[in-house]
Amino acid sequence: MTLRFPEGFVWGTATAAFQIEGAAAEDGRAPSIWDGYLRERGYRGDDGDIAADHYHRWEGDLDLAASLGAPAYRFSASWSRVMPDGRTVNALGLDFYRRLVDGLLERGLTPALTMYHMDLPAVFEGGWASRETALRFADYAHTLTEELGDRVPMWMTVNELYYESWLGYCEGAFPPGHRDRDLAVAALHHMLLAHGLGVEAVRRNARGAEVGLVTGYAPTVPGSAHPDDVAAARRTHRHSNCAVLEPVLRGSYPEPYRTHPMRADALERVVRVGDLETIANPVDFIGLNYYFQRHIVASERTGAPEVAAAMDPLGDWLVLDHLHDIGVTEMRPKSDTRTMAGWKPEADGMRRMLTEVTDEYGQVPIFVTENGLPLPDYVGPDGRINDVERIAYTGEHLAAAHAAIQAGAWLRGYFHWSFMDNLEWTSGYGHRFGLVHVDYATQRRTPKASFDWYAGVAAANELPVPAVPVDGTTPI
Ligand code: FCB
Repeated sequence: MTLRFPEGFVWGTATAAFQIEGAAAEDGRAPSIWDGYLRERGYRGDDGDIAADHYHRWEGDLDLAASLGAPAYRFSASWSRVMPDGRTVNALGLDFYRRLVDGLLERGLTPALTMYHMDLPAVFEGGWASRETALRFADYAHTLTEELGDRVPMWMTVNELYYESWLGYCEGAFPPGHRDRDLAVAALHHMLLAHGLGVEAVRRNARGAEVGLVTGYAPTVPGSAHPDDVAAARRTHRHSNCAVLEPVLRGSYPEPYRTHPMRADALERVVRVGDLETIANPVDFIGLNYYFQRHIVASERTGAPEVAAAMDPLGDWLVLDHLHDIGVTEMRPKSDTRTMAGWKPEADGMRRMLTEVTDEYGQVPIFVTENGLPLPDYVGPDGRINDVERIAYTGEHLAAAHAAIQAGAWLRGYFHWSFMDNLEWTSGYGHRFGLVHVDYATQRRTPKASFDWYAGVAAANELPVPAVPVDGTTPI
C-alpha cells in the first residue's frame, strides 16, 4: 500500500547558516549572538567556528543535495556575513549567497531562502528588544532581495520567532540569555515587525516570488479531561502557537497578550500605529516546524490524583517558566519514550497541527518547513549508517501529514530537517538530525539509509506504508 501526495507537492530539505557554515571569521563575517553565547554556555564547548565547514564545501554539498532528488533546498543567509556591522554591505559575504543560489539553480534545485534563522549580529544593542533592530532588518532584507530576488522563488523572512523571543529574552535558555518578560514581549513584536518589513522587501524586489515566515508549532494536549486542564491547554496554544499566526494572518495579538496585564502593558509600550498592518502584510504561505506536542495541566492541578497518576514533572527540558503566570504547567506522560532531545515523537501532532491551523485560520497554504529526529548516528562496520528509527519517524509523520491533506489542509510541501548533520544550538554536535552524516574530524559526508529512503519517497511522490518492514531492520 502507498499514500500518494498531491500533484506538484514540494519535497525538500532544510538547513540554517550558523548550524552548517563554519568559517566564523572569514571574508569579513562578524560574530552573531550565538558565537559568544556558545563559548560561554554551550554544550561541551561546541561552537560554530568550523561546524560542517559548508562555507568551503558547499559545492560538494549541493552535488549531494542534487543526488537526493528532493528539488527544494531551504537554507538561511547569515546577516553577520552580509552586513557585519549591521549597516554596511560586505560584498564578500553577499557573494557567498550569490554563488550558493546560482549553484542550486545550476543543479536543478529550488532555492528556498530564510533571511534570518536565529543568528542575530552581535552588534545590535538590545537585540530584538530594540525597535531599531527591526528597522535594520528591513535594510538587510532589501539587500538580499535586491541581489537575489530575480533567482530565489521562495522566501522566508524569520524563523521560529516565538521560541527565539521567549527562550532568549525570558527563559535565558538561548542568547542573549535575558530573564525578563517585558523584553520577551518586545522581542516578539519587533521580530514580527521585521517579518512584515521583509515581506515588503520581497514584494518590491522579487516580483513573482513567494514569501512567508516560519513558526514553530506544538499542539497542546490537556493532561486530563478536567475542564481546568482543557482550558490551560487552550491558553498555552493561544499563547504560543497563535502568538505568531494571529498577528500575521489576522493583524491582532491573541487574547493572552491582550488580556494578561503584564503582556498587555508590555505590548502597549512597543506597538506603534501601523505596526500591525505591516505585520499582517499578506503572505503566500505559512511555514510550520513540527517536532513535538505539549502536555499541559492547570498549575494548581499538578498534584490532582488523576494528573499525578498519569503525568510526571517535565524535568529540566525546555521548561516554559514564562507560562506559569498564565496558570499553566507543562508535564510529561509517564513512561513515554523520548528522543535524545528530550521530547516524545508523536506523529499525530503533525496531523493535529495542520488541521488546527486550517480550522482556525481557513485554508491557508502551508509548508512543513522542518520536521526531523535527532539520533546518535554512527558509521557501522559496513560503512553504512542504518538509521531505521529516522525512516520510521519520517514515514509516520508523512502519513499523518497525508491524513491532514485528506481532511482538507492545504499542505504544499515538506522540508525534512535536516539535509546534513549540524550544530544543534545549545545541544552541540551530538544531536544528529541529518539525512547525510558528517564526520566532524574529517568532514567526510556519508548519506544515511534515510537519505535513500527519502529520495525514493520524493521521486515517487508517494509514501510506502508501513515505512519500515515489521522486523524493523531493512529499510524499504
Ligand atoms: C528548530 C530550529 C532548527 C533546528 C531544529 C531541530 O527549532 O529551527 O534550527 O535546530 O529545531
